[in-house]
Amino acid sequence: MHMEIPWWRDAVVYEIYVRSFADASGDGVGDLPGIRQRLPYLAELGVDAIWLTPFYRSPMADGGYDVADYRDVDPLFGTLSDFDELVSEAHRLGLRVIVDIVPNHSSSAHEWFQAALRGEGRDRYIFRDGGESPPNNWQSTFSGPAWSKTPDGQWYLHLFAPEQPDFNWRNPEVHSEFLDVLRFWLDRGVDGFRIDVAMGLYKAEGLPDTPPEGQAFKAESPIWGRPEVHEVYRDWRKVLDSYAGERMAIGEVWTDSAEDLALYVRPDELHQSFNFAWLEAPWSGPAFKKIIDDTLAAVTAPTWVLSNHDVVRHVTRYGDGLANSTTGLARARAALLAMLALPGSAYLYQGEELGLPEVKDLPPEARQDPIFARSKGELAGRDGCRVPIPWSGVAEPYGFSPEGTRPWLPQPVEWAALSAERQSNDPGSTLGFYQEALRVRRELRGTLPDEITWLDAPEEALIFSRGPLTCVINCGSEPVRLPPHERVLIGSAPVEGHLLLPDTAVWLHTPEA
Ligand code: GLC
Repeated sequence: MHMEIPWWRDAVVYEIYVRSFADASGDGVGDLPGIRQRLPYLAELGVDAIWLTPFYRSPMADGGYDVADYRDVDPLFGTLSDFDELVSEAHRLGLRVIVDIVPNHSSSAHEWFQAALRGEGRDRYIFRDGGESPPNNWQSTFSGPAWSKTPDGQWYLHLFAPEQPDFNWRNPEVHSEFLDVLRFWLDRGVDGFRIDVAMGLYKAEGLPDTPPEGQAFKAESPIWGRPEVHEVYRDWRKVLDSYAGERMAIGEVWTDSAEDLALYVRPDELHQSFNFAWLEAPWSGPAFKKIIDDTLAAVTAPTWVLSNHDVVRHVTRYGDGLANSTTGLARARAALLAMLALPGSAYLYQGEELGLPEVKDLPPEARQDPIFARSKGELAGRDGCRVPIPWSGVAEPYGFSPEGTRPWLPQPVEWAALSAERQSNDPGSTLGFYQEALRVRRELRGTLPDEITWLDAPEEALIFSRGPLTCVINCGSEPVRLPPHERVLIGSAPVEGHLLLPDTAVWLHTPEA
């Protein structure tokens, strides 16, 4: 059974945090030419697509998620022609390219906001009169009030840093601007967009206070998931569909439930939305099972993700507080097999294929995430998952930058053992394991049904099958008996006999009855 399905339906997409992937220019910051040089590594890893975090002109108040010009590359990362060369080289290697688009807010350096400060076109943003105190009680996601005062006494809204003013999506000019930005990048050959803060954009009329219990992603929130936002994605879908070649969009949508998530992926809206449930779940069989069931029941094009540039790396999440530091890595490898066995597409985060942990001991003066400064050091922020990749060698910059250059964040000495070079050609390494898992998944692709069937398992383990593939993951502390099978396809650790040890997963081949 081989059905023609769009490429993104079951793709493995690799997230590149551009600042931290590979630095060709020698300024300590990753760039587009650096990525281009490393594309063969990604092709060999076996992913289908790359997602590039923002590389647009930006003062970098939030690492590029503060965009000053949506139609140009920041000199830190290269030029538009570097971008074009990256896309054509990726396509030549069979890799699709997804770019980030940031529609909720711009940089305060954007010409529209600069004009607004001069009193021109304030209606493109959310300005309000106020007195001494802000117009409402909304808090910034990065700590502190979501309002800042301009010199002439008006307040403007920023759900993130003050350098990231929120657009007013009730102004039609904002709509046409973004439709045009989409076309700009589609014309340059991108295969899709990752939409930043996709459940933001509209704020409730009148900007009412949030209830005292907070401003989380509840359906009734005045800030997130307002119904009007869906019209935006219907318009965007029409633009994407007007181009040849299965262009797609995936939303960064944080919600409380899989049902709310499903609203964004109705047939005339986005193709996919991130499903962050797994990224927030502890290492637990029942928790994983609930996420899988809820997701598959609610959405027809599921996605799975274990780490990204905003959260603590999962090796560390799964290993935290445990005496044995190898446990986190064993669990991370096991979780990968579970994720890759499920119907839908998987999003990997750069460095997880090397088993990189979170860097927890970055010195305060090195930290650049605005969350750290805005919370006055109370929150560590996200720099610990953004440390530049160790490619080769035994000391900083580990081939990330040319020799003699200091990367923008310091790299730990322990990473000498984790470099891509050190792990390549070692089938027992995490890199070798990822390559093999992706190779087996490719081989099975197109032969597996969209549905999974649960088999009996002890409470802390999961056993599910998709046609001839059976996946077993043991999240408990006792060995689990493997169901009948013909052979082992791949294990997250060596599997011998009929018992699967704790913190391990395996794919079995089971001939269909
Ligand atoms: C998204 C991005 C995050 C950024 C924020 C504001 O959550 O993933 O990195 O800080 O939006 O743009």
